[in-house]
Parts: sequence; C-alpha cells; structure tokens
Amino acid sequence: MSLTPFKNEPILELRRAPIRAQLKGALEAFDDEPVVQVPVWVGEDTRQGGALQSLDPGDPERLVAQSAVATQADVDHALDLAGRSEWRHVPAAQRAEVLIRAAAWLRARRLEVAALEVRETAKPWREADADVCEAIDFLEYYARAAIALAEHPAFDAELLQPPGERNELRWNPRGVVAVISPWNFPVAIPLGMVSAGLATGNAVVLKPAEQAPACAFMLVRALRESGLPASALALLPGEGPVGAALVGDPRVHTIAFTGSGPVGLEIVRRAVEQAPGQKHLKRVVAEMGGKNCVIVDSDADLDDVVPALVKSAFNYAGQKCSAAARVLAHEAIHDALVERLAGAIEVLHVGQASDPEIDVPPVIELEAQERVARYAATAEASGRIAARAAEVPDRGYFATPTLATDLPADSPVLQEEIFGPLLAVERVKTIEEACDRVDASPYGLTGGLFSRSPRTVDYVADRTPVGNLYVNREITGAMVGRQPFGGNRLSGTGTKAGGPAYLLQFVEPTVITENT
Ligand code: NAD
Ligand code: ALA
Repeated sequence: MSLTPFKNEPILELRRAPIRAQLKGALEAFDDEPVVQVPVWVGEDTRQGGALQSLDPGDPERLVAQSAVATQADVDHALDLAGRSEWRHVPAAQRAEVLIRAAAWLRARRLEVAALEVRETAKPWREADADVCEAIDFLEYYARAAIALAEHPAFDAELLQPPGERNELRWNPRGVVAVISPWNFPVAIPLGMVSAGLATGNAVVLKPAEQAPACAFMLVRALRESGLPASALALLPGEGPVGAALVGDPRVHTIAFTGSGPVGLEIVRRAVEQAPGQKHLKRVVAEMGGKNCVIVDSDADLDDVVPALVKSAFNYAGQKCSAAARVLAHEAIHDALVERLAGAIEVLHVGQASDPEIDVPPVIELEAQERVARYAATAEASGRIAARAAEVPDRGYFATPTLATDLPADSPVLQEEIFGPLLAVERVKTIEEACDRVDASPYGLTGGLFSRSPRTVDYVADRTPVGNLYVNREITGAMVGRQPFGGNRLSGTGTKAGGPAYLLQFVEPTVITENT
C-alpha cells in the first residue's frame, strides 16, 4: 500500500451557513433515532443491557445511550480471546490498511459522530468536530508510523553488519493491551490508544469512560466494520471496577490509561504486583491531569493575551487536561489583565453545546458541577472573585465561569486540578518568580508564556517542567504530528501521543544475530 505523507484532517468551517445547516440536520437525525444501545462486545458476541445510563449534560432528562456493564466473565472472555488473537501475525502494512479504512469510515460519518459527542458529552460543535478530526489523525498517523517501524526498525542508525555477521532488530507486539479512557475527548483519546496498540500488532481490550460509552461504541464499530478481526478488539463498558479487573489481570501486558492522577497512580501501584503464573512486567502508559500555568510578562500584548486565556480556560468549560488554570501575571500588567479578563468573562455566552454560538457548555455531570461550585466558594472565602459569567442557564449541569484573584499560595484552588471553568490569577514580581511557582507544582502537563522578549522565551523554555509549552498563543488544541502531546512529572509516564516515539510503548525489541 502506498500512502501519501500524513496531514491533519481539516476541521469544518463553522462560520459558513451551509455547514451550520448540515450540523443542525445531523443533530435532528440523531435525535430522531432511538436511544443508542451499547453492548459488551467480545469477539462475535454482543450482550445488551441498560445498567449504565448516559444522559445529556445540558438536559439530564434526555437519555442518550444505555449500556451493558461488563462482568468478570466478560473480562475473562475478552482476555482469553485477545490472548489467542492472530492479529500479531498480520503484517504491518495490512494492519495499517485497516486503520486507514477506519479513518475513512469516520470521515464519512463525521457529522453523525460529532452529533453524538454533542449529546453524550456536551462537546460544543467546534470541539466535537475537532475531536473526530483528531481521531482520524491518530488512525492515519499511527498507520504510517507502524509501517515505518517495521521497515526501518533501527530508525536512521542502521545496525552495523560486519563481515560474517547479520544483525536484525525487530519490534514485536508486547501482548494484550488494556485501554482505559476518559470521557472528555470521547472518541479521539480512546481511539488514539486503541489504534496505537493495534497498529503495532497487539490485541486490545477497551474499557471506556462510564460517561461516554456510546462514543466508544462508535470507534469500535469504525474498526470492526473496516475489517479488524473480531478477536483483536473487545469493548467492555462499565465503571472503575471493570478497569481495575483488567489492571490486576496477568493476561494484560500493557495498560494504556488516560484519566485523573489518583486513578493513574492507583493503576501504576497495582500493575507492579506479579500475579501467580505471570511471566512479564506490565507496562503502564499513564497520561494524567494537570494544573496548567500561563505566565504573562510585563511586555505582553493584552489584546492577544485575553482571548487566548479565555479560550484556554473556558472552552469546553475548562474540562481539558491541557486547560489553563493559573495565570502568573507580572505585577506591571496584573491589574490591567484582571480587569480585561473580568470584562471578557462576564459576557461569556454559556449555553447548550448544540448551539454553535455558545462559548461555554455545561460540565459533564452533577458531581462536576458541585465540585466547581465548592472550589469557587473556597476562592471567595480566601481570596476575591473578580468576575463571574453574568448569565448561566439553571437547567442542566452548568458551572459558572469564574475568575479568582488574591488567593493564598497554598490555596487548593491554586494547587489542585479543578477540571472546570475556574481561572485564578496570581501576581508575580519577576519571570523568575513565575518560573519558581510553576516549578513548585507536582504537575507538568501544559504551560504558556506571553512575552515579546526572545531572552525571556529562552529562559522560560529552559526552566519549564511541562510536556507542552505554548508561546504567545492558547495552550490547548495540540495537533497530531505537530504538537506530540503528553505531560511530565505527575501528569504522565509516557512518550507523547501523536508523536514519533509513541508506538514504542506498545512493542518490545528483539535483536537477532546470525553468524553467516
Ligand atoms: P478518571 O480517572 O475518573 O477515569 C478515567 C478512566 O479510568 C475511566 O474509564 C474510569 O472508569 C477508569 N477508572 C476509574 N477507577 C479505576 C480504577 N481503580 N482502575 C482502573 N480504571 C479505573 O478520569 P475522567 O474523569 O474520565 O477524566 C478526566 C481526567 O482525565 C482529568 O484529570 C484530566 O486531566 C485527565 N485527562 C488527561 C489527559 C492527558 O492526556 N494527560 C487527557 C484527557 C484527560
Ligand atoms: N490534546 C488535547 C489538547 O491539547 C488534550 O487540548
């Protein structure tokens, strides 16, 4: 198969009226369909059930999907089948073909998939469309990367071949991959991990987030209906205990997890235990939370800073691991920045994800709404609320976009991941002090800097502990192949998703030396 060089899937131009009309049509068509039934899907067997209910966060009376919940017997069945799968013997180019066909499957249904995300996870149209594009990108990127790994296993440094000796490096699939995913990029993130496991020849068992089982069902359909053998991918919907059963099982070789820090750490802890008969170490790839800081220098152009910060902190109601949570503003511009941010936040349009005009959708569930309110109350008690969005619907799980200032350095509002629309601004005297504060955090996911001084940019780039630093722009929206994405410190264990080294986490090397 000859593939053109990778390029990112273009997003839709939502400003155009015909595109908006298409989106409206897609949503109406989705709403006319019966509630999505998500099965446990292992091999050719499907089992329906309604134990898990997936509601529209903007209108919790609307049932979007109901899902079966995997039992221990389903976990056993899935892992037995995955362990016997012949997928590992399929050549890399043929595996890649399946991924490329799955990308085409998604491309052909991109509005339908985005409409599902709008309803199931309250992703605003723009973000839902971007999520589908990122999912397509992962398939296209890892398909090419897997072929490259098979064809050039030693990369540019070919092994030396002295006379009388032949050396060969092979990257073999590690074995069964358990993918455990979050809800906030409900197609792209699980599909990224699943497709990396599959591209490298591993059978995969997917335990998606309980908040978004229908989105996960869609991606499994994309792969299965594109020719993936039934043994190579199972869908095990359910809550945390289904994931925990996979983590503890000796038949699992690699765990690809994306989610919160506490769950990630628990997985890392459990994965080192050796079960009776287990002959391998489990590898854990854990991409976790962040508390992302943006430094604003005294020379920054606030006309650029304000919209970029609003986008970074409030798009998708701040529910991105990459979202801005803290602004470290130089004292020379602190007050002006707070005033301008306050003005921008007060007029944010908070509303339903299905409305293309909104800025901020609801949060995912009641627990998230209550959590954001708790942190906002803490900010009010120990600091100052500089602004709140003026109008917030009272039906649905809406959280009020909020700007907090004057908080004590040890405030939980500054130290803990809130994962909602609450941005805090801190005053710093120097860029060194800002870097010290960033360095004091155990997180290291994304970060930002606004400065016009090349020396400051160099200084901050040298000192930053984060995995992805953005200069003079918003800090969300990493693109596959352009900004390989992932955190350091307590934000992540792995090499970056959508980057050249990601697939190496799913393979292990064997060197074969033949005396000729
Ligand atoms: P979560 O940790 O609550 O859940 C993630 C997944 O883990 C779900 O499928 C859940 O059912 C499962 N799970 C829960 N307990 C488990 C256990 N004991 N063993 C195994 N699996 C278990 O996270 P979430 O609320 O779905 O997602 C939001 C979090 O994810 C935020 O912290 C966010 O920062 C993080 N996130 C990180 C990245 C990244 O790339 N670093 C990307 C997206 C989201
Ligand atoms: N990859 C996502 C972003 O960069 C999390 O926003």
